[in-house]
Amino acid sequence: MTIGAGGTPFSSNNPAQLQYQSGFSNEFATEALPGALPVGRNSPQRCAYGLYAEQFSGTAFTAPRHANRRSWLYRIRPAASHGAFSALLHPHFPGDAVPPSPNRLRWSALPIPAAATDFVDGIVSVAGNGSPETQVGCGIYLYAANRSMQGCCFYSADGELLIVPQLGRLRLATELGLLDIEPQEIAVIPRGVRFRVELLDESARGYICENFGSPFKLPDLGPIGSNGLANARDFKTPVAWYEDRAEPFRLIAKFMGRLWAAEMDHSPLDVVAWHGNNAPYKYNLRRFNTIGSISFDHPDPSIFLVLHSPSDTAGVSNIDFVIFPPRWLVMEDTFRPPWFHRNIASEFMGLIAGVYDAKAEGFEPGGASLHNCMSGHGPDAQTFEKASAADTAKPDRVEDTMAFMFESRNVIQPTRAAMESPQLQPDYHECWAGLARHFTASKA
Ligand SMILES: [Fe+2]
Repeated sequence: MTIGAGGTPFSSNNPAQLQYQSGFSNEFATEALPGALPVGRNSPQRCAYGLYAEQFSGTAFTAPRHANRRSWLYRIRPAASHGAFSALLHPHFPGDAVPPSPNRLRWSALPIPAAATDFVDGIVSVAGNGSPETQVGCGIYLYAANRSMQGCCFYSADGELLIVPQLGRLRLATELGLLDIEPQEIAVIPRGVRFRVELLDESARGYICENFGSPFKLPDLGPIGSNGLANARDFKTPVAWYEDRAEPFRLIAKFMGRLWAAEMDHSPLDVVAWHGNNAPYKYNLRRFNTIGSISFDHPDPSIFLVLHSPSDTAGVSNIDFVIFPPRWLVMEDTFRPPWFHRNIASEFMGLIAGVYDAKAEGFEPGGASLHNCMSGHGPDAQTFEKASAADTAKPDRVEDTMAFMFESRNVIQPTRAAMESPQLQPDYHECWAGLARHFTASKA
């Protein structure tokens, strides 16, 4: 048993309360052994406890200070200590994109596998755009697992990983410490961070957005002011924790869309102390300060933005992560569900819990939908009729729901696996078929 800085024994059978540091992309400093972190310098000739110093950069060295992400790690062995990589077979890497159609698509939830399946085994590539090579775009995956990763760790050199659990709690044992997340929480693992996923419940299912572009950041708030949406203090970064295990480990890398494996003779999770702002973090979506109209009409759904990866064009994101949480709807003389729309952006949606307020049925927790550039969508016929007849002098409470969207400026291309999946709902478009003609040339 190894004791972390918080004195917490690491065991997935004992999901004790973990300690975290508060804030978004702060200059954190943490050590699991007293004095392990050098004071006032990064690279002393000899580090305390015989540790190796290693810089871990998530942005260019010369990125402006406000965008620069890097950490210094003090570890038992450097990250370079592993054998040669060999290609690793996985049914979903590399993803096999098929030419996208303008059809609106929806999938039912992925079943929990019957065979022993860990987090990496259980990843299904469903959509994506851009490429790791150009550092633009994203990969979108589902995962379904029923056992913890054992004797191996994973990292993606292609992008940071936004993990959105829908079912089952996860313990993320990372180089920079331990994070526990549950449905309605998210975690972001920076590009390159090595980690292991342990299941804290019998099974786990969820969504992953692999962001090939610039790291996720909190949006500017403009006229909203200095508070609101996802507040920085609610983001939690782990304290230093390490395991000193000299035994065979497999390091699985995702590099240029493919998986690779290298053998090691120790655990790569051996960082005893670290400081910096390039680190994993978690966020509880229930903490989102939802803001909306208190007069009439809806703001654009950008008001629900949690995190975004900016592109090279001002105001246009590579990826937006948006949520639709429980909230009050009070707008008078207003059609209150999301309006009918067509966007230049492309939208991949998932449902973590409950019912999404634009769809009466068919969009189930664990399911997904894809509405690509300029494909018309919005509430289904049942929702339209109900909302059109609702009394808007009274407030409505949207309850027991948590939907989200990965939105991208570039068309999101489904994979062959997604298009050939038994979970694909071939009749999804029919949810708009019942929209009746109400037009009459004489004004009522
Ligand atoms: Fe939409």
